[in-house]
Formats: sequence, C-alpha cells, structure tokens
Amino acid sequence: KSHIETVKNFNASSEKELEEFRISYLGKKGILNDFFSKFKTVPNEQKKDFGKAINELKQEASSKIEGLKAAFKNQQEEKGIYGDLTKPGEQIEIGSRHPISLVKNQIIEVFSNIGFNVSEGPEIEDDWHNFSALNLPEYHPARDMQDTFFIQTDPKDILLRTHTSSVQVRYMENNTPPIRTISPGRVFRNEDISSRSHCIFHQVEGLYIDKNVSFKDLKQTLMYFTEQLFGKSKIRLRPSYFPFTEPSAEVDIYWGLETETDYRITKGTGWLEIMGCGMVDPNVLKNVNIDPNEYSGFAFGMGIERIAMLLYQIEDIRMFYENDIRFLKQFKSVL
Ligand code: PHE
Repeated sequence: KSHIETVKNFNASSEKELEEFRISYLGKKGILNDFFSKFKTVPNEQKKDFGKAINELKQEASSKIEGLKAAFKNQQEEKGIYGDLTKPGEQIEIGSRHPISLVKNQIIEVFSNIGFNVSEGPEIEDDWHNFSALNLPEYHPARDMQDTFFIQTDPKDILLRTHTSSVQVRYMENNTPPIRTISPGRVFRNEDISSRSHCIFHQVEGLYIDKNVSFKDLKQTLMYFTEQLFGKSKIRLRPSYFPFTEPSAEVDIYWGLETETDYRITKGTGWLEIMGCGMVDPNVLKNVNIDPNEYSGFAFGMGIERIAMLLYQIEDIRMFYENDIRFLKQFKSVL
C-alpha cells in the first residue's frame, strides 16, 4: 500500500532517474517480482488482497513510467530533438517547374542542338542598347511601338528593356563573328494587362552573324525550330517592319482545326503570330563595329508566354503570374 503511494507521487527529473525507477519496480530483481515470488508464502486468506494490491502496484508503476516517458519525448521534440530516426517520414510534396521555365528550357535545347549558345543581358538598360544602337534614333516614331517604362526621365536614358534585342547589341559589342546566340529574358512594357498581354513577359532573342548568311538560312532555322517544338507544323513569313532588321517578317504558325490529323497543334483556328524576325540591318552592324560588307546575319525574337499558351492551351496570360498552386501543379517535368 505504501508503495502505491510512492509510485503515485513519483516524478523524475531526468530520463536516467526514470529508468532507475523502472528498474527498481519492474526490473528482474525489482520490487514487483519480489512481491510475486512472496505470493506463494502468503497465507491463503490474505492471497486475494495481496494479489489485488500487487496488480494495482504494477498498473500504477507501468502507467507512471509511460506517462513520464511521453512527457520527456514531448519536451525533446519541442527542442527539436527527435528520438526515433527510423520512424517513417512525413510525405513531402514535390514542386514543379514553372511553365515559362519549361518552355524556355525547351527552346534553349532546340537551338543548342544547332550550335547556338545562351547569353544574357541586364533588365535595366540604357537607351543605346535598347533603342539607338538598334537603328532607332531619338524621336524615331518606331519608339512608340513599345511603351517604355523609364527609370530616369531627364534625360530619358535608363529604362526597363522593352525587348531582348538589347542583348544582341551587347553580344555583338563583346564578341566577334561568327556569332550564334540565343538570349532568353524578361522584358517590360507599359501596357494594359488583359488575357492577351501583360506588362511583364519573356522573350527569347536569336542572333546569327557570319559570312554569307542569307534569308533562306533564317527561314530554314525557323522551320527547324517550329518543327522541333510543335511537331510537324506549317509556318509562313509575312512581310513586316522592325527598325533593326531589313527585310523584316513576322512568323505565323498554322493553328487550324481543318488539318487536325496532320498537325499536332489543333486548337484555335487559322494563323497565329509567334515571332518577329529579319536580316540584321547594316546600320546595326556598323553601330557595333562589324563590317556589313564582310558579314551579314539574321535575328528573331519570340514571346515565351505566347508559345507556352499554344503548347499547353492556356487561355489567359495572367495565369503565369498569379502563382495559383492549382495551375502550377499541372506542370510536372524535370527539364
Ligand atoms: N524585338 C522585336 C519585338 O520585341 C522582335 C524582333 C527581334 C524582331 C529580332 C526582329 C528581330 O517585337
């Protein structure tokens, strides 16, 4: 009976003390075993009470020990110490790459296979690299084609680049032909946000400079590219205007329903513009000290969002920037 009281009042200040307590009661040579072995010698009329008492003592001791053990464990876990490292872990959800990264990496892959390297430039640019060197002198009306975010306004020299063509200029300033490079990056335009356009988006610029580069090289490269990315597909080049290329064209991809069986891309109808391109204007080459009599080349620029929207059938460009986990989760890939 007195043992039951002792057990009830017991509190251990350390795990070691708790273990000593356990051994003294429940151990082989412990108090309980001692009582059990004495059981035989107890007079018959006392056996019932005695048995009851040792069973109660056993119960009390066991539950006391369990309780204290759990308390110690909790204390440790609060401190970040976890005892059982063999316990199965909790499942961790694996993230997925952003669709813009996936498509960007795909584009890089396609062009690296034909000898293009990857180059980058700053998002905060100066007037020279974003406009002037690209044959867009001050007050040239074509500057209004792209609504620019200026960082410095007096004079209007520092800005957020409106296209990745600025990287062309930097690359040609720092490298000599032959040049084969693509430049992915973020660009900024002061435009209203809608399902079709955003003030921040991504482009990939391509630049090829060598001796005797002609328009047919450009067209062949673009056909190779669209076929790699979209599967068997049909493109057309439509005459256009960019100050930094001459001649210039816009590339449309056929996005038709009638030819469903022939083309992998089947949603929507008709021709869809996917990029601008052209032969690098001789004035641009002169601006970066490349002799236009010796070298020629082509350039192109495409919007990554636009291509991702085609590939994944995404209807609203704003989805890319909302970080809605239900949207992002759908893009599982390791690329
Ligand atoms: N920079 C152009 C744009 O943003 C695209 C382009 C790049 C066109 C290179 C021709 C050559 O619209």
